[in-house]
Formats: sequence, structure tokens, C-alpha cells
Amino acid sequence: MDPFSIMTNSILAVFIVMQLGLIPIMAEGETTVFGAVGEQVILPCTDKSPSDKVTWKYNDRVVIQYLDRLLRGLNFKDRYELNTQGNFSLKLSQLEHSDAGKYVCEVGSRIFKVELQVFEVTGSPSGYLLQDKNLMLSIQGSSSASVTWSNNRKDKVTATQSTELKNGGRTLQIHNLQVEDSGTWTCHITSLPAKLDIPYKVLVIGFHNLKRETLYEAVNSTVSISYSLSTHLLQIRELEYVRVAWEWKSKTDSKYQEKFNFSVTSKELLLPNQMANMQVTWKPSHTLEVKLSKVQVKDAGWYKCQLTVSRGHVEKAIHLVVMTVSADPVGPLSKWANVTLLCKLSAPIPPNAQLFWEHVNGTEKKLNMSGHNEVMVKTKTVGLWRCSLKVENNTITRIDYTVVKAAEWNVLIVVVVGLGASIVLLLLASLFIFIFTARQRRRRRAEKMAQARQDLIERRICQCQRQLKNDYSDA
Ligand SMILES: *[C@@H]1O[C@H](CO)[C@@H](O)[C@H](O)[C@H]1NC(C)=O
Ligand SMILES: *[C@@H]1O[C@H](CO)[C@@H](O)[C@H](O)[C@H]1NC(C)=O
Ligand SMILES: *[C@@H]1O[C@H](CO)[C@@H](O)[C@H](O)[C@H]1NC(C)=O
Ligand SMILES: *[C@@H]1O[C@H](CO)[C@@H](O)[C@H](O)[C@H]1NC(C)=O
Ligand SMILES: *[C@@H]1O[C@H](CO)[C@@H](O)[C@H](O)[C@H]1NC(C)=O
Ligand SMILES: *[C@@H]1O[C@H](CO)[C@@H](O)[C@H](O)[C@H]1NC(C)=O
Ligand SMILES: *[C@@H]1O[C@H](CO)[C@@H](O)[C@H](O)[C@H]1NC(C)=O
Repeated sequence: MDPFSIMTNSILAVFIVMQLGLIPIMAEGETTVFGAVGEQVILPCTDKSPSDKVTWKYNDRVVIQYLDRLLRGLNFKDRYELNTQGNFSLKLSQLEHSDAGKYVCEVGSRIFKVELQVFEVTGSPSGYLLQDKNLMLSIQGSSSASVTWSNNRKDKVTATQSTELKNGGRTLQIHNLQVEDSGTWTCHITSLPAKLDIPYKVLVIGFHNLKRETLYEAVNSTVSISYSLSTHLLQIRELEYVRVAWEWKSKTDSKYQEKFNFSVTSKELLLPNQMANMQVTWKPSHTLEVKLSKVQVKDAGWYKCQLTVSRGHVEKAIHLVVMTVSADPVGPLSKWANVTLLCKLSAPIPPNAQLFWEHVNGTEKKLNMSGHNEVMVKTKTVGLWRCSLKVENNTITRIDYTVVKAAEWNVLIVVVVGLGASIVLLLLASLFIFIFTARQRRRRRAEKMAQARQDLIERRICQCQRQLKNDYSDA
């Protein structure tokens, strides 16, 4: 329109108004108001001069009127509320996209124009989200306003590996969601006349510390393997069905075998039957803990907890590495022998770690580094030996082994006892020989005496006979 026709129109308008007997209405400029779906806004209508008449129109139709009392127009909605204290602002609650448009407030002779723009942030998928999945946030509402986003830590979102901005910033794509992404993200809408921040709650179901987690444990110890969920499942109303399964595999390339499973509902929880060396607890709907007692090398491997809900599943695996020690030969070490101490891990030594044997309070030490899985020491040194796994100066686990010296006095006793025994034997033998010879001698003497006596008797008989013979011959 050229200036001339504008002037003509204005004059015409004033003329028509005067003809109708109305007071000419003066526009007080236009205000822009931004509102978010579901929220409320106040459409301002300030007038310093007191007035007892106000009319609010939406798209040229009367919505609400105040003339001593409230009068509702055809377009009136229950969500409208007119303020009559001090000003005539119109409050709109539970905003909908269809509320957007041009509003006019007429107070006395003045009119206040308000343009309402309604925005909404929508997420796809909506509702709860699963770890490792993607989320797309977009802003709806027609506007040339500029859009920026900030994350749950209130940092401005820029295009990174995990976040992508599209559509001139009106769409934000978050890749590979982690539990740490849970929280309130914000969409900032700004234009010259107005601005608005719309929060969006992101809720990611998943496990804390998803990054590879390894437990290094000494043989025979009790190990607690626990998986902590980011959220209390029972607080998510949309979750009707949750199944928890626990699986194990011994090697990287083998298949997982299920050890147990159970389902969680708001009504009941059926934990699996407790197994001999295993104790299972499910802490109020967010932590699964499995305690293995007296772990052995055969228990080493990967333990995975898998949580299945109707929308998919999330999982976390924990690697259990078992440390063992052995000695060859076992038992006390004699003076000139060596002992070989072997300390083994069920998986290679991690990077920046050392596996070593050391003589406690001594100087002997032997270590092995990343990539290997054992350390061996050959020693004569008795006393307390310790095998430790250290990662960046922190002892992760250790096992003590005491090398005992074979008692040397035992040898001495053997010698002394042996010597004593031989002496006693010798003495006994001499005694026996002595007794034997003595008896022999006595017997011989007795025999001799008996012989002598015999001889004497014989001789005496002989003499008698001779005497008799002589007597007879004398006679
Ligand atoms: C109008 O009054 C209400 C309450 O009396 C107040 O909250 C609001 O800020 C006022 N609006 C303006 C534009 O002054
Ligand atoms: C583990 O326990 C077994 C049997 O209870 C025992 O023979 C072995 O010495 C223990 N190992 C260690 C390193 O304590
Ligand atoms: C869950 O465990 C039960 C035994 O408690 C077993 O019969 C069933 O096959 C398991 N379910 C799955 C899907 O592995
Ligand atoms: C003990 O070890 C040393 C050095 O390794 C070796 O020279 C020696 O022969 C070993 N002794 C025995 C009895 O094995
Ligand atoms: C090592 O030394 C410390 C302090 O010097 C002492 O308390 C400890 O008993 C010693 N250990 C052995 C096995 O000798
Ligand atoms: C280090 O480990 C390798 C194999 O894992 C083994 O052959 C080597 O003897 C170990 N070194 C020591 C010092 O024990
Ligand atoms: C480990 O400890 C030693 C001395 O105890 C120190 O010199 C070294 O800097 C430490 N290393 C790290 C990675 O902390």
C-alpha cells in the first residue's frame, strides 16, 4: 500500500468509527509471547488507567469480556483465566498447539496485541530409553526463532560424536545413549521479542560403569559380582515386564551359558534356587548381586547380566580373573635345594600392571609385565613370599606363600640316635659274647672238675684194689 492509500484508509476508519458513535481505539503495539505445550502462559494486558471494561479476542472473536462481571465469549475455553486485580492479563493453562495465534486485549480506548507462539519438544522414541540406543529430540511450532540445546549438565550441545544437530538446529540426535545422559535436557528458543526454555526429561535404563569391568581375585576368596542399574525399575510405570538373566562363559570366544533367570514385576519376585557356592540378591529393584564363595580357577571368565523389557534389552558383562600360586617342591625346603614359586592369573596381566613375587622384608623380587599371565621365581630363600598384582601402584590382589626350612636338627638327631643305637648294639653284643664265653668257660671247668673227681675216684678204687691185692698176697 502506498502512503496515500494508508492515509485514506485511516481517515475512512476514523470516519466509520465516529459514525458508529464509538471512541477511536489506539493500538499499543504488539507483544510476542512464547509458550510450551502443557504449560501455562500469561498474555499481558497492562493498563495504568483504571477501567471497568475489558475484552479479550482470539483471532478476532471475543473470548472473554469483563463488564462488572465476567462474560464468556463463543471461543471461551475452561483453560482461560482473566486477572482483574491490577491488570487484565489473560492466563492460559494446559497449552495446546491450537492456542497459538493473535490475541487482542481491549481496555477502555486502548488495544493490546499479543501474538502467542506455542512450542513442543518431542522425543522419538518417547518415554523411557535403553542404553546404547538413539534418541531424537525435535522442536515443533512454527517460528523463525533460533533454537539451541543444552544437555543434562547444562552445557551447550554442539555437534560431536554422540550428538548431531539437524534441520538448522531444530532436531537433536543423541547417539549411543548412556545412563549418564539421563536428566533434563533443555531446548532454548530465542527471537528478538521473546524467548523460552523447554525442558525434556531423558530417562535411560542401563547399567552403571558399562565400560569393561574386571575383578582380580585370589583363589579361595569370596567374590561379589554386582550390577547396578541406573533407575529403580518399579518407578517406571510403562515397564510391565522385566526379566533378569545371568550368564557365564569361560573364554572370549565361547558362548554364554545361562546360570539362572528370574522375572521382576511390581507384585512378585522369584529369585532362583540358591546354589551351593552362590548367593543371589536383588536389592530393591536396581542391583543384582551374586556372591561366589571359594572361587577357583575354573570359575574364571565373563559373567553377564541381561535385563529384558518389552522394548529390548540391556546388558553388562564383568570379567573375573583368578590368581593362584603353587610351589615345587611343596613342603619344607632342605638346605641345598631350590624351590620354584609360580603365580598365575587366569587371564593376561592388564596394561600398566605388574605381577611380581617378592620376599617380604627382603630384596629378592621377580616381575612380569602386561601381555603375560604368570611370574615364576626360583629361590633358596625361606620365609614369607608374596605374589602381588599392582596396577599403577595400587595392589589389586595378592597371595602369600611361606617357604619353610627343613629342620636341620633332625639330621643331627638321626646321627646321634643312630650312633647311640650302634653303641648300645655293640655293648649288647660284647655282653652277649662275654656271657657266652664265661658260661662256656664255666662249663668247661665243671667238666674238668667232674673229670678230675672221676679220675680221683677211679684212682682211689685202683689203690684199694692194689691194697687188697697186697693184703691178699701178704696174707
Ligand atoms: C498482572 O497481575 C498478575 C497478578 O496480579 C501478575 O502476576 C502479572 O505479572 C501482572 N502482569 C503484568 C503484565 O503486569
Ligand atoms: C585353597 O584351598 C585349598 C583347599 O581348601 C587349599 O588346599 C589351598 O592351599 C588354598 N590355596 C590358597 C592359595 O590358599
Ligand atoms: C529360565 O530359567 C528356568 C529355570 O529356572 C529355565 O527352565 C528356563 O529355560 C529359563 N529361561 C530362559 C529363557 O532361558
Ligand atoms: C638351584 O638353583 C641354582 C641357580 O638357579 C642352580 O645353579 C642350582 O643347581 C640349583 N640347585 C639345585 C639343587 O637344584
Ligand atoms: C616385615 O617388617 C615389618 C616391620 O619392619 C614387621 O612388622 C613384619 O613382621 C615383617 N614381616 C616379616 C614376614 O618378617
Ligand atoms: C612371564 O610370563 C611368561 C609367559 O606368560 C613366562 O614364560 C615367563 O617365564 C614369565 N617371566 C617370569 C620372570 O616369570
Ligand atoms: C609409584 O610409586 C613409586 C614409588 O613408590 C613412584 O616413584 C612412582 O612415581 C609411582 N607411580 C605412579 C604411576 O604413581
